[in-house]
Amino acid sequence: MKFPSEPFKIKVVEPIRRTTREERERLLRESGYNLFHVPADSVYVDLLTDSGTAAMSDNQWAGMMLGDESYAGSKNYYHFEDAVRSIFGYKHVIPTHQGRMAENLLFSTVVKSGMSVPNNIHFDTTRANVEHQGAQALDLVIKEAYDPHREIPFKGNMDLVRLEETINRIGRDRIPLVMITITNNSGGGQPVSMDNIRKTRALVNRYGIPLLFDACRFAENCFFIKEREPGYADKAILEIARELFSYGDGCTMSAKKDGLVNIGGFLSLNNDQWVQDITNMLILVEGFPTYGGLAGRDLEAMARGLKEVLEEDYLAFRIGQVRYLGDLLDKAGVPILKPVGGHAVYLNAKEFLTHIPPSQFPAQALAVALYREYGIRGVEIGTVMFGKKDPATGRTIYPELEMVRLAIPRRVYTNMQITYVAESIIELHRIRESIPGLTMTYEAPVLRHFTARFEELPPR
Ligand code: F0G
Repeated sequence: MKFPSEPFKIKVVEPIRRTTREERERLLRESGYNLFHVPADSVYVDLLTDSGTAAMSDNQWAGMMLGDESYAGSKNYYHFEDAVRSIFGYKHVIPTHQGRMAENLLFSTVVKSGMSVPNNIHFDTTRANVEHQGAQALDLVIKEAYDPHREIPFKGNMDLVRLEETINRIGRDRIPLVMITITNNSGGGQPVSMDNIRKTRALVNRYGIPLLFDACRFAENCFFIKEREPGYADKAILEIARELFSYGDGCTMSAKKDGLVNIGGFLSLNNDQWVQDITNMLILVEGFPTYGGLAGRDLEAMARGLKEVLEEDYLAFRIGQVRYLGDLLDKAGVPILKPVGGHAVYLNAKEFLTHIPPSQFPAQALAVALYREYGIRGVEIGTVMFGKKDPATGRTIYPELEMVRLAIPRRVYTNMQITYVAESIIELHRIRESIPGLTMTYEAPVLRHFTARFEELPPR
């Protein structure tokens, strides 16, 4: 593969600060070894998330100056509506301030208590919004998705056998919609194939169930289709996206990912009745339908970002940079989830830190060590985030995967900074035996990873 060199030059720079190990050690102690509580200006390379962290282009910034802040009918709304319609093809376009509000509006309108919503894997916020309605969020991804060593091209695919069994078991009337998340964030940013989407459509059609996309990283998914799926190599990303969305009835979108903006999202749907109900709710909680919780300038930045994200040079760099990091680590024997996904590299903490048992939070310990030694911030996706207590025995139920996600912001870090990340992790892997486990000293009843506190256990 060609070296993924940057298809842009840098016009504005944001200085980042080098900290000392002593300073980071102190910050870790003060934050209870929870990286969500470390100030961002004390992080050298911040890979906490790829959401809302993109660098906008000169074209997007120029668009910001053309923001029309009229309460109703801002021209930027119409630009945004045109951009969304031309890619996604659905009738109605409803702006929201970010993805989870689009989810909340959709699910509070169409999901009722006792219902179930299948997905390949629900992202945390879609799961939480489904469950908030008293409904069940079901993950029906193919079983290979849970094997970190299994290298297949479309590891985000829906398991169609399980989907059909589920529809038959639960009953069509209790499944208001089926969702597909592209790419499948919670399964490692893995893509879903066009063939799988087409077949999911055919299946839900037989039962008259609508199909919706969680479209946050749709352009990255389309790039993988072009690269990996027979028949798509010569198609433009826009053409692939149009075909993909033609199999659905609508989507929710966090434009903080593939919209290349720092804030924004939307819902786009064909169903008139749903849209009428959602619009009424939108006015109550977000704002008038031509701004939906955003400024006119934000809508303009989104309209422009949605077009830029489809450029092939951009996507080849984007996917190439993430893969470049994964390949450097893999070649050096660092255990990662394979194949590398679209937006992040996932370190397999279970295999990285074999001397730390799950009860001592190996993924959290790895994330802490990465920050302490090198000033790099990733996020734990393991027992802290997904561990559950068995209500009967009080014992912890451990999740299948124990990972540290290194999510790469779009157009933000140079390949040299990414090389620094790789070299740091390779060095950390060599001294891994010195990394201590953790004990949790505080946990909140819900979403404990945001506020949990830890102490380090004595080194072995
Ligand atoms: N769906 C997926 C697949 C996501 O990854 C996210 C956000 C959302 C929905 C919610 O969007 O944040 O705009 O409300 N993911 C971020 C992450 C937070 O770090 O993976 P939002």
